[in-house]
Amino acid sequence: SVKNRLSPSILAADFSALQEDVALAEAAGAKSFHFDIMDGHFVPNISYGAGIVSALRNKSKAFFDVHLMVEEPDYFFADYKKAGADRVSVHVEAVKHLDRSLQAIRELGMEGGVALNPATSLSTIEEILPICPYILIMSVNPGFGGQSFISYTLDKIKRLRKMAEERNLPLEIGVDGGVKLDNISPILEAGANFIVAGSSVFGKKDEIGERVKSFNKVLE
Ligand code: DX5
Ligand code: ZN
Repeated sequence: SVKNRLSPSILAADFSALQEDVALAEAAGAKSFHFDIMDGHFVPNISYGAGIVSALRNKSKAFFDVHLMVEEPDYFFADYKKAGADRVSVHVEAVKHLDRSLQAIRELGMEGGVALNPATSLSTIEEILPICPYILIMSVNPGFGGQSFISYTLDKIKRLRKMAEERNLPLEIGVDGGVKLDNISPILEAGANFIVAGSSVFGKKDEIGERVKSFNKVLE
């Protein structure tokens, strides 16, 4: 099975000192960073684009996990490849031809993933599972950091892990939104192995390193 990984979301970092916050997290043991790209249409908020990914690429050796919360994401795959992304995930609700999108990402030499909103059924990804190494289960409605974990998504993680095991697929299951040190146990037990955490890692500047270490301890 795929190893557990922590991926701090820089959405919750200090935008005036991104390099510093990323360096603090990486020095403490973060091996991946999560980039929340929001277009103000798919979600009711605008964050940042490929320029930020590219700027940090020169400063970090970590795995760059890009989460596209945008309409018609296919237009932007090449930009994120150029910016140095290792993985790009699209929302199943935002694409018309999911198989085509995943192929396009892979042809550019990146890993392709699919994100599902809390209300979106697993049936939407059932068919493409054999060609998709990563599913991101949203445990909040996307658009903002700092929201509370929606607990019914735990059952969805369980059912997805079961589906992958039954089909012998070494699926990486991400969980995104409201993850904290005090609610992570049931999330891991349900079968998630890629943990996105924004405010619970970057929320307090003087505790960034400590938080990364605490998460990694639980994830071992
Ligand atoms: C929500 C984003 C999340 C968010 C997580 O739209 O996709 O990645 O940054 O932030 P926290 O961990 O604060 O809920
Ligand atoms: Zn995200």
